[in-house]
Amino acid sequence: VIPPLRYEDGVLLILDQRFLPGEERWLRCRRPEEVAEAIRTLAVRGAPAIGLAAAYGLALAATEAHEPQAARRRVDAAAELLARTRPTAANLRFALERGREELERATAPAAALLELARRLHREQLEADRRLAVHGAERMRPGERVLTHCNTGPLATGGYGTAAGVIRAAHERGLLESAWVTETRPLLQGSRLTAWEMRRAGVPFRLLGDSAVGALMQRGVVDRVVVGADRIAASGDVANKVGTYPIAVLAERHGVPVDVAAPLSTLDPETPAGEAIPIEERSPDEVTHVGGRRAAPPGTEAVNPAFDVTPAELVSAIVTEAGVLEPPLSESIARAVGAVRAA
Ligand code: MRU
Repeated sequence: VIPPLRYEDGVLLILDQRFLPGEERWLRCRRPEEVAEAIRTLAVRGAPAIGLAAAYGLALAATEAHEPQAARRRVDAAAELLARTRPTAANLRFALERGREELERATAPAAALLELARRLHREQLEADRRLAVHGAERMRPGERVLTHCNTGPLATGGYGTAAGVIRAAHERGLLESAWVTETRPLLQGSRLTAWEMRRAGVPFRLLGDSAVGALMQRGVVDRVVVGADRIAASGDVANKVGTYPIAVLAERHGVPVDVAAPLSTLDPETPAGEAIPIEERSPDEVTHVGGRRAAPPGTEAVNPAFDVTPAELVSAIVTEAGVLEPPLSESIARAVGAVRAA
């Protein structure tokens, strides 16, 4: 599977996910403004991958300046710009915060920030691999697992979160097949997850978002595994819009809902779901499909990019440090405490 971003000789190469699965086009970003634009337009997306792109963006900012003080000013301005690109992903703030800490210590900001971005990238891959194993260990042989949006390598820069769990389950012979929702309005499921799963040889079938209830009624969904963009201290989970209705249906049908996310997605400063900022995107994404009009001119539309699944609908949060079980507020507090003590 192709990593969605890589840094080479002062250039951040970003696989432009807007053109997948049809075309593999790469953006060449030399300036943090270009990285911010790539994040805003979803050329690079998925909470962890956004964080990594931002970390490389800070390194590009520092590289543009010729002395450390100017580099600091440039990096501060870039951090502010990058922070405003997409408000929901906790991993974005996490990466920018790590960048700020690094900058305070560094005598050579450009080298230090590049090394940090590379370290975060390696850490993401390791976290993904570990959480995939923890998630797969929860499964019994022959499971049919439903997932939403895209949470594979394209979304994390590593092995993936929920999609990584599904892939690890497949490698262990535990997966019968995955159900992949198309994920309207931008089709991350059909464009990206289907593309990745085909390349990885994971058996799956695609369905329209509104078919989830019909499948659950037929009893052909054994588990839901999704990713997260931000998890509040309460255990409420913000993820791609459409996750909440899937979780409500899952409760009705007695199907467990596992949320797979690295610890960097936990946001202990946000007490509960209602305090999570939810990105509103352009109505054009709803009135158009693949750039073609799908509603009469002048149609008003709403387009929240995420929704919040309350903690009581979540069976477990699968992290690289192990599985957090309900009551989630307590297990999250313990996990965050362990990270701070380390
Ligand atoms: O708007 P996107 O495509 O960035 O949304 C992505 C998701 O909602 C993913 O489920 C989430 O970032 C977890 S990815 C590992």
